[in-house]
Amino acid sequence: MIFLMILELVLLVIVVLAAINFFNIVFRGFAPFFSAKPEVIATIINDIKLTKDQEVYELGAGTAKFLRGLEAKYPQAKLIGVEYSWFPYLLTKIRLTKAKSKIDLRREDLFKTNLSRAALIYCYLAPDMMVRLSEKIQKECRPGTIVVSYLFSIPNLPWHKTLEVGGNKIYFYQL
Ligand SMILES: C[S@@+](CC[C@H](N)C(=O)[O-])C[C@H]1O[C@@H](n2cnc3c(N)ncnc32)[C@H](O)[C@@H]1O
Repeated sequence: MIFLMILELVLLVIVVLAAINFFNIVFRGFAPFFSAKPEVIATIINDIKLTKDQEVYELGAGTAKFLRGLEAKYPQAKLIGVEYSWFPYLLTKIRLTKAKSKIDLRREDLFKTNLSRAALIYCYLAPDMMVRLSEKIQKECRPGTIVVSYLFSIPNLPWHKTLEVGGNKIYFYQL
């Protein structure tokens, strides 16, 4: 009996989380959960150079693949992942804790994250989010901040360069 009640509760939580996700993706234009391929992440990490103590943000972190790759190369950097969806957030949080990672994973809407101290921002989001993200970056970020977006260009940011992996573009901007 207790087992059935727990099972029902777990199923209810899963259905509610899935419904919230569906609402956010369909009605608020948020990006769905897909991961960038390892070769995309490796290309970006090989291309960038960080100095000690710089702050790096992965907006829409998912499994925080980018930050985990960076942490291996730059253990001193301040790495912040922002993920609004509970499911990837919890999975990634558990994974980071197990690995004793120092990555600061926050469960919040990236549009509410303060980006004023960012030296580098990486994102792989959705086309519908780009105008709003561009406005936020222009308003909050300091000159010199590097913004890297996989697959989707960000309007009105100073373009730096584009790299290509498997026919897909990675857009680099520098404020
Ligand atoms: C396409 S996945 C990218 C995952 C990972 N960054 C990568 O490159 O493999 C986009 C992620 O952004 C998250 N996301 C979408 N909209 C968001 C928002 N407004 N705030 C925070 N996270 C968001 C989704 O839940 C999803 O995990």
